[in-house]
Amino acid sequence: MRASIKLREILEAAQVVRTFRPRPNCVFVSTLGVNNSWRSIASSLGFLAPTSTREYASSRSCGLAQRETNYFADRTHTCRFAENDVMIMHADTNRGIEVLLNPIYNKGTGFSLAEKERLGIRGLTPPRYFTIEQQCEKIWANLTEKGKTGMFRWRSMQALQDRNETLFYRLLVDHIEELAPVIYTPTVGEACLQYSRLFRRPRGMYFSADDVGHFNAMMYNWKNDVSVIVVTDGSRVLGLGDLGAHGMGISVGKLDLYVAGAGIEPSSVLPCVLDVGTDNEELLADPYYFGLPQKRIKGDAFMNIVDEFIQAVKNRWPKALVQFEDFSTDHAMPILKRHRENVLCFNDDIQGTAVVVLAGIYGAMAAMGKSPGAITEQTFVVCGAGSAGMGIVNFIHAALVHHGLSPQQAFERFYILDKHGLITSNRELKEGEPGVDDLRPFAESRRDLPDGINLREVIESAKPTALLGASTVSGLFTHEILTRMGELNKNPIIMPLSNPTSRAECTAEAAANATEGRAIFSAGSPFDDVSRNGVTMVANQGNNLYVFPGLGLGSILVGSNYISDGMLNAAAEAIPKTLHDGAIRRRAIYPRIADIRNVSVKVAAAVMKQAVDEDRENRGGKIGHMISREGIEGLERYVRSSMYYPEYRPTVFSPGSGRGTL
Ligand code: NAI
Repeated sequence: MRASIKLREILEAAQVVRTFRPRPNCVFVSTLGVNNSWRSIASSLGFLAPTSTREYASSRSCGLAQRETNYFADRTHTCRFAENDVMIMHADTNRGIEVLLNPIYNKGTGFSLAEKERLGIRGLTPPRYFTIEQQCEKIWANLTEKGKTGMFRWRSMQALQDRNETLFYRLLVDHIEELAPVIYTPTVGEACLQYSRLFRRPRGMYFSADDVGHFNAMMYNWKNDVSVIVVTDGSRVLGLGDLGAHGMGISVGKLDLYVAGAGIEPSSVLPCVLDVGTDNEELLADPYYFGLPQKRIKGDAFMNIVDEFIQAVKNRWPKALVQFEDFSTDHAMPILKRHRENVLCFNDDIQGTAVVVLAGIYGAMAAMGKSPGAITEQTFVVCGAGSAGMGIVNFIHAALVHHGLSPQQAFERFYILDKHGLITSNRELKEGEPGVDDLRPFAESRRDLPDGINLREVIESAKPTALLGASTVSGLFTHEILTRMGELNKNPIIMPLSNPTSRAECTAEAAANATEGRAIFSAGSPFDDVSRNGVTMVANQGNNLYVFPGLGLGSILVGSNYISDGMLNAAAEAIPKTLHDGAIRRRAIYPRIADIRNVSVKVAAAVMKQAVDEDRENRGGKIGHMISREGIEGLERYVRSSMYYPEYRPTVFSPGSGRGTL
């Protein structure tokens, strides 16, 4: 029977079913308790195992839940295709134990009786049926037992992903706030340190220096269609330095967050490592290190490898998004500049981080009862002119221009200091030094003050509304500095962004003490909220998770081949819009991670709208048309309906595979 069967034919088929007399060679659909919609009937195509009404009745009387039937009854959202309501097995999959050994199809104790028959696994799993919610509950209880370490949780989650992918993602979605720090930083860092030893099953793809010349062909070893790739060369993994091929842990973790946070289909993500060697002596001496045991390839040879990788991606999946992750600072920006217009891509360390900080500034505007456009009234003092500081400064500058200032006016809003003090037009900037090109226009616009004056003097002259730190100098924001910020502003914006906590420019407590808790505070590291004289100062913490899943989803759905500054700015503006009134009153400037799917919907829709406005849509006008017909709410509905949600769907054999036949 064809998958494209017509509704009338299906209804006729349903009629046949009612008057069924068993014969081999036909599709058998149990109608008891099954929604009679064409979807439920179509979902049964491709299998032949009979499921009699008596069997349903007897299983019910045994108290066995029948999730397969409830699945349709419980639906709160509508799907547009039959394929969305069923899990169609790959044509190469055999009935029986093979189903249980495949993490994509395995449901453990979550197979209905009908499915057990259909898939040839009756008797191969314990008789009692558990819902996915019950399974999650059991695993969660196990993970959160007293004394269980982060690494125990990481390993348990890996093992779960290896045996039941749906359950893994469901647990992650349901407990994203608690599990994001396990799947990603900080615990994944610990895992990356010993990744070779923890290696169990391959996940993702390794492109090594030994494979040069073959990347194109290798891409075809990956069978699925891919829409998001995270790639690293492992040269600067979190704060841990060069971990070589162990960087795979980062690519895998990040993509798990794409799936959980924005509902990207798990089958369409591809974690990658470019293994060009490592300069980590410990790894080179480790007999079990699974990457190339050689020093890093550098210079042009390295760039050629990146180029070959990007070209191979473009050849195989021209619309895929590539996210660059944890490349060393000297390579990160050059790679982004080289490929930004060549392939749909972004760098989360540079752009994702800058968007989060900007989102915090917009959140601060909301906390002060102002519109995002009020960002043009702010004056920024920034300590730190390294890659983090300049990345953030450049991006806030773009936002000021976006909101109406001329580039020159926007440059003048910044007072940038490095370890030698304020940087002005009198500073001798050395040609060719990293970051100098970015810094120069800011320096040249600062002609009103002497070069090299210290932070206290700068604050006195500039009277800033916002003080940002990316200097790595602990305690740089002294009590005196913070007090002065509190005198100058009702709600001073204080952002000590340096990591880890030991390097933060000030603590939350110091900021609250000096400002009677009036500061709008956000740090790069976690701090507890602080109460002073009945006023609670929320210790906000930026997290790139607010940005990259929604940004990725939006740019794919709109079909753009470029992520513009305007789209990044739209993402930043969308994030505080998910804050509810109570949170804004408390001066929370970021939403809760638990709300990430909602945040991603808003971010994706905002990114898509901006892309349409910039004429970057590549979906034949569909998205623009949707916005003009149904507004941003309609667009958000569309985004939501496009998101994968991990739940058990009835599993059917691929029509035409013939593998499901008895
Ligand atoms: P870097 O070492 O390249 O730059 C540090 C900068 O701080 C230099 O310009 C240096 O001259 C300046 N500096 C040093 N002492 C200073 C002082 N007393 N006053 C003013 N400036 C001073 O470091 P990079 O890569 O730029 O990172 C800086 C920090 O930012 C790190 O702690 C990093 O973890 C953090 N970071 C935070 C992010 C966040 O979103 N929270 C994102 C990325 C980095």
